[in-house]
Amino acid sequence: MSILAARPTVRPCARHRPKIDRSATLRLALAIMHTPETRFAAAAYTRTAITLHWLVAALIAGAFSVAWSLPEHLHTPADFRLLSIHKWIGITVFGAATLRLLWRLGHPAPPLPSSTPLWQQRAARGSHALLYALIFLIPLSGYLMSSAAGSQVVYLGVLPLPLPLAKDKALAQELFGVHQALTTTLLVLLSVHVLAALKHHFVDRDSVLRRILGRE
Ligand code: HEM
Repeated sequence: MSILAARPTVRPCARHRPKIDRSATLRLALAIMHTPETRFAAAAYTRTAITLHWLVAALIAGAFSVAWSLPEHLHTPADFRLLSIHKWIGITVFGAATLRLLWRLGHPAPPLPSSTPLWQQRAARGSHALLYALIFLIPLSGYLMSSAAGSQVVYLGVLPLPLPLAKDKALAQELFGVHQALTTTLLVLLSVHVLAALKHHFVDRDSVLRRILGRE
C-alpha cells in the first residue's frame, strides 16, 4: 500500500472547519520577531565571545600591572624592557579587541533578563559600547605616543611596526595625557562593570555573570 493511500481522505466540510485568521496570525508572528528585544537576540554568549572577553580582561590586567610597576623615570635596560612588554601587551589587546568586535558584529549578545529595569539595560548597552571604544583607543593612543616620542615598537622583539608620526616631543607629551585620561576612564568604568556583574549575581540572582563565565 502506498503512503498516499494511508492518508485520511475524509476532511470536514468547509462550514465545520475552525476558522483561522491567517493574516492576524502572520501579523502576530511578525510583531514577535521584530520587537527590539528579539530582533537581534541570541540565546547565549558563544564560546569564542567568552574566550575573547576573558582574554582581553587578562591582557588589560597585565598591561596595568606592568605599567604600575614602571618607575617614573626609566634608567636601566630592565626598565626599558618592561616598557616594551607593556607595549606588546597593548598591541595584543588591540588585535584581540579587533577580533572581538568582528565576532560581536556577527554574533549578538543575549538580552538582559526582562526583570532588569530599562534604565539599567540602557546603561549596560552604553557602557559596553564605551568599553569597546576604550579597548581600541587606549592601545592606539599609546602607539601614537610612542611614535611621536621617536621610539619604534618592535612587536615581541621581532616585528618592527611602522612609525605613523614624526618625532614631536610636545605631541608625545599631549598623547601621554590622552593615554592617561583614557586609562583612568577605563578603570572607573571597569569598577562599575564589575560591581554591576556582582550585583546581578548576588543581589538579583540572575544568570548574567554565569553566562559570561560559560556556566549557563
Ligand atoms: C578587564 C577588562 C574587561 C573589559 C574590557 C570588559 C568588557 C566587556 C564588554 C564590552 C562586554 C559586553 C559584551 C558584548 O555585548 O559583546 C562585557 C560583558 C560582560 N562582562 Fe566584562 N569586561 C571586562 C572585565 C570583566 C570582569 C572582571 C567581569 C566580572 C567580574 C566582567 C563581567 C561581565 C559580564 C557579566 C558581562 C555580560 C553582561 C551581559 O550579559 O549583558 N567583565 N564586558
